[in-house]
Amino acid sequence: MVNTSKIVSCLLALGLVDTSAASYDRTNQTVTYAPIFKEWREEGTNENMTMTATFDLVNSNYVYLYEDANYLHKRTAISVAVEVATILGGTAGVIMAAESALDIYEYIAGVIKTKAEQESCTLTYGTDTADDAIEGYAYKAMTTKTNCGTTAEKKTIDTAVKKCANELHEAGATRGCCKFRYGDGSWYGHLRLTAEPKKYPADTVNC
Ligand SMILES: *[C@@H]1O[C@H](CO)[C@@H](O)[C@H](O)[C@H]1NC(C)=O
Ligand SMILES: *[C@@H]1O[C@H](CO)[C@@H](O)[C@H](O)[C@H]1NC(C)=O
Repeated sequence: MVNTSKIVSCLLALGLVDTSAASYDRTNQTVTYAPIFKEWREEGTNENMTMTATFDLVNSNYVYLYEDANYLHKRTAISVAVEVATILGGTAGVIMAAESALDIYEYIAGVIKTKAEQESCTLTYGTDTADDAIEGYAYKAMTTKTNCGTTAEKKTIDTAVKKCANELHEAGATRGCCKFRYGDGSWYGHLRLTAEPKKYPADTVNC
């Protein structure tokens, strides 16, 4: 089996940046796209956070993004199209942008921070609501060391969750997943979000 995350990191390491190969398959009702990659450092901290966002379900109103090869190219540093998402009807929910559901995303960031303090590598999932907004989430940390603690501060995790939501929102994703990596690369956080927690739940993380 091809391990896509390995391919992606190799390409990044070699600096192979090419035009995006986003595409829309009308027959199969799928879109193919390159994962979205971001790297940043929070002010006043010493380590970088990286985020790789992918999604498996996309709202049909956003299909035009994948027909326009230039659009995704502007937003990603990764050259190869290695992910496929299924197109849903236009009434399917789309993951909310950060500003539209701040309480929800700060709550999820709090869950991540608490689990890091507990050095917990277990899966947590649920649904959070604020006003009329609803979002399903699943979160699990992984590590190459012995526990899933991280020195990432709450503000860094807040930013990570918001960037994840914003990227998935802009992509028109109904369900998506962000893999975060902090500092020396021993800690990984996997966060899955869904705008349709009943129909398309987030109860595993697989990104
Ligand atoms: C639809 O998917 C099938 C199976 O993955 C593939 O063989 C076929 O080429 C796809 N259709 C188009 C139009 O790409
Ligand atoms: C940290 O991220 C910045 C971009 O925000 C990048 O320029 C820099 O090379 C990164 N540093 C490391 C050690 O990866």
